[in-house]
Amino acid sequence: MPPTTDIEALRATFQADLERVVNDQDLQTVRDRYLGRKQGALAALMKAMADAPPADRPALGKAANALKRTIEQALTHRRTTLQASVRPAGAVDVTLPGREIPFGRRHPLTLIREQVESIFGAMGFEILQGPQVEDDYHNFEALNMPPDHPARDMQDTFYLDRPMSGVGETPSTDPATLLRTHTSGMQIRYMETHEPPVRIIAPGTVFRRDTPDLTHSPMFVQVEGLLVGEGITMADLKGTLVAFLRAFFDADTRVMFRPSFFPYTEPSAEVFISCVFCDSTGCPVCKQTGWLEILGCGMVHPAVFEAVGYDPERYTGWAFGLGIDRVALLKHRVEDIRLFYDNDLRLLEQFPH
Ligand code: DAH
Repeated sequence: MPPTTDIEALRATFQADLERVVNDQDLQTVRDRYLGRKQGALAALMKAMADAPPADRPALGKAANALKRTIEQALTHRRTTLQASVRPAGAVDVTLPGREIPFGRRHPLTLIREQVESIFGAMGFEILQGPQVEDDYHNFEALNMPPDHPARDMQDTFYLDRPMSGVGETPSTDPATLLRTHTSGMQIRYMETHEPPVRIIAPGTVFRRDTPDLTHSPMFVQVEGLLVGEGITMADLKGTLVAFLRAFFDADTRVMFRPSFFPYTEPSAEVFISCVFCDSTGCPVCKQTGWLEILGCGMVHPAVFEAVGYDPERYTGWAFGLGIDRVALLKHRVEDIRLFYDNDLRLLEQFPH
């Protein structure tokens, strides 16, 4: 006698069998197992019905027929889905796991540059780009570096149109073009074409004839800053740089200004921050001094204003130059500047997109 519970049990085993069907052959096996005329489970169920009390038969028959229909529909549906999954040659298999799209990442130096730009941008500074191939005038002369200034030495500068050291060659007397040795030429380029007030930063790659080692690379990145107006003082320079350095490094970074010399600023200063590695207690990175040199700056020299046609009696201003590589070395505790230019994915993949 097949009570309705048997019918429900049969429904459950059918569902389990159906889930294991992965091809046409499986499908046929399951069809035979349940709907086969002689051996099928439903045929057996119908036969057993004859033994049931007559009063129960109509309900049992109804339940058995309902199950039969469910099974037929489920098998038909499965056949359709099996056919749909047979791919014509060359078609895309949408069931394959996706292939990861390798995203590029921004270079660590780019990330630092963007942070510097965002801090100065928020203070209202305009961000400029300038040429990497520069002329002698913008790179040196207009910055109060006379022709005999040591920084113009062929040992330090990549000249593009002068014989390097050919014996018997006459050096060209044409104005030289060169790979800029610093971003300071952007001060001149901007002031030549704009009246005060000036508030700019100019990030960019610069080049020097240095032999690569842990701290030197023939190519590196600087950010130049320049602010000019009436009544601008060194206090403005200090206030702005301290605000920038605290925003960039840490809110309680201490900042030290020490007298220095640059031909294009007077007075000039080197700026140090309290060592981020040892909190100024002394370590190898700060050479036990507790301080790290971070940038050069000063009040714009009157000769520079004269070169660009600004009245030095009326205007004053300040400038700074920050080495992005140096900041990146400190911030990421990388010990070799060359790593930033080697394109080694083991380093680059550690930075965000
Ligand atoms: N040009 C300097 C360098 O390459 C950095 C610098 C120092 C830039 C003082 C400035 C400045 O604008 O005022 O080392």
